[in-house]
Amino acid sequence: MADKSSFVGVFDSGVGGISVLRHLVDELPHEDFCYFGDSANNPYGGKTPDEILSLSRGIVDDMAARGAKAVVIACNTATSVAAARLRLEYPDLPIVGVEPAIRPATRAPRHERILVMATQVTLALDKYHRLAEECGSSSQILGEPCVGLAHRIEQGNLDAPDLHGLIETLVGRYRGTVDSVVLGCTHYPFVRAQIRDVVGDVPLFDGGTGAARRLRSLLAERDLLAEGDAPGSVAFASSLRGPGQLDLYERFFRLEV
Ligand code: DGL
Repeated sequence: MADKSSFVGVFDSGVGGISVLRHLVDELPHEDFCYFGDSANNPYGGKTPDEILSLSRGIVDDMAARGAKAVVIACNTATSVAAARLRLEYPDLPIVGVEPAIRPATRAPRHERILVMATQVTLALDKYHRLAEECGSSSQILGEPCVGLAHRIEQGNLDAPDLHGLIETLVGRYRGTVDSVVLGCTHYPFVRAQIRDVVGDVPLFDGGTGAARRLRSLLAERDLLAEGDAPGSVAFASSLRGPGQLDLYERFFRLEV
């Protein structure tokens, strides 16, 4: 039975969710976090919803069996496909998802045209269309599927010219024409500067802080917040076994987001 001293499980299709993990640790520094990157199956964005649901369910089953007190789906794609379903399957386990931060972007002083960068699955599903419709009365929401970008970020080497070239191909045509950009995939905060280089110096929004606040409130509601002042721990695991994989995760954890 999970209690206050249990860990919080966090997962993504790879390194991306580490951008969310950074916000979780800042918001809840006394919690223990176990991060799982499903890098062996990256990218989720090119998979079918059934495949994504089955991969996500496998990870949540494992975290629940190991006694997690909450799970954060630190992946927009897996949240869109699987969060509602997994909450039904695990009614006693707080499950936090991330969604494209369109709402905060529409509250910014300039919000006429908002570019949403995300995976093709996130942008194809009803959840996104409902959100874009709810938020779209005062803004034009432009969804752009960024095929290949998460997978390229997964390889590291974020300053390489090919990465800049890929971002240019994906969103270069929006340069100077949008008021803000929503980073609707948790991999993208790691290339904020590169995205600004291409699109222009506009505000960028991501779902990390929203997820962190939601986790705090769910843990508080269920009286599951860690006790005491001792700093919590962060442990990494990956489905991709190979030399350097966990070093890569630790390196991303130290990057600015
Ligand atoms: N980081 C994931 C997201 O937030 C997905 C990347 C992928 O595996 O395609 O959508």
